Amino acid sequence: MQTNQQPLIQVKNLKKKYAEDGPWVLNDITFDVYENEVLAIIGTSGCGKSTLLKCIAGLECPTEGQVVLNDPNYTLVFQYSALFDSLSVFENVAFALLEPPDDATTFKRLPKAEIAKQVEEKLKMVGLDGIEEKRPNELSGGMQKRVSFARAIMSNPRIILYDEPTSGLDPVAANTLEDYMNVLSRELKAASVVVTHTLSTICRTAHRVILLNEGVIHWSGTPQELLQTDDPIASRFAKAALDTTSAAATGVRV
Ligand SMILES: Nc1ncnc2c1ncn2[C@@H]1O[C@H](COP(=O)(O)OP(=O)(O)OP(=O)(O)O)[C@@H](O)[C@H]1O
Ligand SMILES: [Mg+2]
Repeated sequence: MQTNQQPLIQVKNLKKKYAEDGPWVLNDITFDVYENEVLAIIGTSGCGKSTLLKCIAGLECPTEGQVVLNDPNYTLVFQYSALFDSLSVFENVAFALLEPPDDATTFKRLPKAEIAKQVEEKLKMVGLDGIEEKRPNELSGGMQKRVSFARAIMSNPRIILYDEPTSGLDPVAANTLEDYMNVLSRELKAASVVVTHTLSTICRTAHRVILLNEGVIHWSGTPQELLQTDDPIASRFAKAALDTTSAAATGVRV
């Protein structure tokens, strides 16, 4: 994208296998993601999308190659909201600030008013201000996911990694979430990577798409190119995704 700028995420010749004598799940993956850019990762189940995301997030070690994050402030948004049902929305979003880390001696607790201000600001960014006192089980699935977005962005991350953020949502709820992903990307000037099976998410949030197959980047291009490609694997993926997504909800003409 912007070649005069340093990428926020650099994946260099990344290889990953889980067992010494196991297969290469990722076999020489290289790409960069820049500020304000959203990269979608697609591919069939088990092709290594989550593994790639976990390697970027430092939850898995690359077997070979390198991941360079040029900003220490990053966050991972999981497929499931993973909210604490016994806590209020406020407590869920503020969790990292309320809970002292292991090394409590160096932990400086923020004043309550400052925490409240930050929680309100983040809930506003996902269109949910005013629901601080509710419990997660009083919210719809889409709202729960937006609360988990708010929690994930408490530290104003410049790098946001999403694993299937819109799976399991109806097309309208998915569209709402996609709109907020775009807001976050813009407001935080973030570099984002989104693993998704949902065509509307690809078309409405991503600038570039890479298709993983047998451990390598089999195809890459823009969402528009994905819809028009002759590549048999990429076009099969796009058609299958279209079948499971309302074409009207993709926001593009197909
Ligand atoms: N912790 C692990 N230990 C061993 N093998 C693993 C581990 N995690 C993933 N794998 C294997 O690595 C491969 C890729 O898994 P991964 O979860 O990255 O796929 P995925 O593309 O995210 O699939 P899905 O679309 O179903 O979420 C699979 O064969 C899986 O069984
Ligand atoms: Mg996965």
